Amino acid sequence: MEWDVLDLKASHIFTPSAPIDSEKLFRGRKAQVKDVVDAINQKGRHAILFGGRGVGKTSLGKILRQKLSTIEPCTIISPYITCDTSDSFSSIWRKAFLEIRHILRDEPPDEYDLYKDHQFEWTPYEVRSNLELFTSRGLLYLVIDEFDKVECPDTRQFMADTIKLLSDHSVNATLLIIGVADDATGLIDNHQSIDRCLAQISIPRMPQTECESIVTSGLVTLGMSIQDSALFEIVGLSKGLPTYVHLLALLASRAAIDAKRLKIESVDVKRAIERAISHSEETIRAEYEKATFSPRETIYPQVLLACAMANTDEYGRFQPSDLCEPMRVITKKEYKTQGFTVHLKAFCETERGFVLKMLGAEYRRKYHFRNPLLQPYVLMKGLHAKFVNEEDLRLRRLDDMPLFNYSHEPTGGY
Ligand SMILES: Nc1ncnc2c1ncn2[C@@H]1O[C@H](COP(=O)(O)OP(=O)(O)O)[C@@H](O)[C@H]1O
Ligand SMILES: [Mg+2]
Repeated sequence: MEWDVLDLKASHIFTPSAPIDSEKLFRGRKAQVKDVVDAINQKGRHAILFGGRGVGKTSLGKILRQKLSTIEPCTIISPYITCDTSDSFSSIWRKAFLEIRHILRDEPPDEYDLYKDHQFEWTPYEVRSNLELFTSRGLLYLVIDEFDKVECPDTRQFMADTIKLLSDHSVNATLLIIGVADDATGLIDNHQSIDRCLAQISIPRMPQTECESIVTSGLVTLGMSIQDSALFEIVGLSKGLPTYVHLLALLASRAAIDAKRLKIESVDVKRAIERAISHSEETIRAEYEKATFSPRETIYPQVLLACAMANTDEYGRFQPSDLCEPMRVITKKEYKTQGFTVHLKAFCETERGFVLKMLGAEYRRKYHFRNPLLQPYVLMKGLHAKFVNEEDLRLRRLDDMPLFNYSHEPTGGY
């Protein structure tokens, strides 16, 4: 057995920091794929895709381009634009038109090149008429990713106006706007005016079975397998975030390969957790340190862990009373909510990096993690520090015990 080769192969299959760009590795998301394909098939309809960080928005946007080329008989022109904080409405469309021309391998005109003119201010009207010029050459499917990053104030309104114009004129082009948000309002201004021509598609966290299939199908490709208990641990810790499924599956397969084994066991997941703590994004580690730091002994780490373990509603939100049980499990002491009110308040303030977001009036206050990617990290830290064990986190499957602490697919918590 060529263990080195297998190790290398594993890193091509499990890619925690790169979006999926091959249909072979893409799992689940059937309903969302169908919603976007429906939007593409209806002239004048566009789509907006929103969800939390790391749930798989970019992967979905990329995979759809490949899917389209298999189901549509015509030429597909599908530029993929990724926005950043410096972008404006004009710069986004400049990128889009240059990319379209690049895909079509069009030579630039000899003299004045409109698409390269940085002075030229694109308006929704001009975008529409220029896009129309390309529609005779194929089906236009434009993805604008990370739209939440754009800071330029008018861009959201202009984009809504553009969608309205494209729809009113039945231009044969579909726009897919992707970004981190709780709902469409978080990405597009005045979206009510375009409700009829805009499919609003939410990407929730991944259901447990889809997470499991990321691991098992990846391992089949590698000629490896996994013990049930190890699989439940990986999936349970990942909390429906595929980026952690990939990270833990990669590190656990490496641990098994190091031990010259083809079957992943719980000991490999243990080693994977140790490594994941130091391999997680620097920003996540910094957020954790800032939230829990104290020169004296405090219960900040324990309270944050209780937040990550708490029962939540479908949006990933919990109430202070939801922390009493996990606090008892962690500290082996009875806690009333007064015992950690100060800590919860501090987690919502800048000094502790406002890791939690607070919602609702005082008597029915709810909280959720501002960055959902922190939650699995907090659980791994808790396991590593031995504040809790796998049973406490319900990572061992008992017949009547749900693997997740929510009974149905959560839609948010961002
Ligand atoms: N449907 C999927 N099947 C398998 N892996 C996925 C899927 N969606 C996302 N992933 C993995 O999850 C991680 C985050 O995905 P990404 O698309 O970058 O998320 P987002 O754009 O929402 O931040 C990546 O490692 C990607 O490979
Ligand atoms: Mg993305």
